[in-house]
Amino acid sequence: MPSASAPLRVLALLSLVAACSGGEDTSAATAATATTTSGADSEGGTATDTGGALAPTWYQDVAPLVTARCGSCHVDGGIAPFELSTYESAKAWAPLVADTVEDGTMPPFLADDTEECQPRFGWKDDLRLNEDEKALLRAWADAGAPEGDPTMATPLPEPPSLVLDDADVRLTIPSPSTIDGKNDSFVCYSVDPGNATLDQWISGFQINAGNSKIVHHVVIYIDEEGASADIADQDGKFDCFGGAGVDAPTSLMGAWAPGMAAFRAPPDVAFRIPAGGRLIFNMHYHPTGAGPEVDDSTSIDLKYFDGLPTYVGLLSFAGNDGKHRADGSGLQPGPNDGGGDPIFKIPAGVADHRESMIIKIGQGYPDVRVFAAGTHMHYVGTAMKVSLKRGNPLPGEPAEECLVETPTWDFGWQRAYQYDAPLDEVPVARAGDEVHVRCDYNNSMSNPFVLRALQEQGLDAPVDVYLGEETLDEMCLGIFGIAIKLSDLL
Ligand code: HEC
Repeated sequence: MPSASAPLRVLALLSLVAACSGGEDTSAATAATATTTSGADSEGGTATDTGGALAPTWYQDVAPLVTARCGSCHVDGGIAPFELSTYESAKAWAPLVADTVEDGTMPPFLADDTEECQPRFGWKDDLRLNEDEKALLRAWADAGAPEGDPTMATPLPEPPSLVLDDADVRLTIPSPSTIDGKNDSFVCYSVDPGNATLDQWISGFQINAGNSKIVHHVVIYIDEEGASADIADQDGKFDCFGGAGVDAPTSLMGAWAPGMAAFRAPPDVAFRIPAGGRLIFNMHYHPTGAGPEVDDSTSIDLKYFDGLPTYVGLLSFAGNDGKHRADGSGLQPGPNDGGGDPIFKIPAGVADHRESMIIKIGQGYPDVRVFAAGTHMHYVGTAMKVSLKRGNPLPGEPAEECLVETPTWDFGWQRAYQYDAPLDEVPVARAGDEVHVRCDYNNSMSNPFVLRALQEQGLDAPVDVYLGEETLDEMCLGIFGIAIKLSDLL
């Protein structure tokens, strides 16, 4: 796969009502209607000659669904290995299409509703299929993938765009990095956004991993005072590890990990790069173990916001806390603490290990609107839940609410999920509230991601895993898109 395709692991599809409430769900109703319609159509000879009068057909029922939920990747030039965009290309895949939607591996959309997590809002660009839609694909496969009548084809939804196609500028790393050997490396680049005298406001961005064989993460910081220019060498690089690597004010702008979507802020929200500020690209490279690889093309595309926004957008992380604190926050007691202070340790071979953390929002913080939420772990992780517990809920606000759960974690598909709700309705977090993160891990050979990570490191048995930055370390990190009133910051 060409390296440029990795950033295209972007989910940008039609918004659909989250399938959570069963019977009255509108998307379920649509699918059910589609099935019935095709049956009715068969009187006019449009449907199947396979005998099953009610069997769904490609042109009448399947193509619109598959275009909407699979079409951002399974198209010519898309990131998926085959197309589902024509009858000829799709019919051979019918049984596997039904299998993968039933077992949940496709489409890749990890946020899901569970018994203990029903976020108050659905998600933008929700790709999930409801039970009726899954059944429709199964019925189509079982009927032998009937074609239907192309002259009576149901109109297809607009194929979703994968990229930030209206970006104003692309900023690329100023020099290449060559990655070899066995150890992960961290490289920071200082990048000039070209705003010597004026603040820049950004309404959307897309981070493009250059050589996807070695780019493990990219974290982009806003270096508010441009301090990185002073410490970068002539290649624009400087040493850093987990953070921005400068001793000056920075804020997080965005991060790329496999599967991350292009980001568009809600209306009237923009990220600020202050005049004279720079961007820091914190590159986490992971060697292939099979010789040197070069990255010379990691970049960020920016879309400018016109004028001043009402809200400042920020990316915020909460978690990765390895210490239990006197006020009860931080790392919570876990099953393998051995009776002493809580420690973050996932013992080798343990298949069901859980760590939890509580992060308190300190006094003095302005109110934040949480418009997007996501989870982040590495290869040992299997499931993660992020919730908000309010110190003083306002009328109508739940005292505790789940923000997002990814019950089946997959390192290959990471993103922040945006609520499908106006900014004045999304969850608000305030000083005194607590963010709770809970991570489940399987550090045994029964976890295929562990198996692969160990093989890459030349190991043949699991090792104890601790909190850290390296690939064989773990994380437990909630990711949030937040908006703060500009007037609260002045
Ligand atoms: C965001 C991109 C994306 C979307 C959306 C997507 N796929 Fe995929 N699909 C992939 C990629 C990439 C692969 C290759 C395997 C992998 O990387 O997981 C794949 C693989 C597959 C496979 C092969 C699995 C196997 O075991 O060989 C099937 C079948 C499939 N997809 C069906 C679907 C269907 C059906 C939908 C929509 C309901 C869908 N996909 C939506 C990206 C996507």
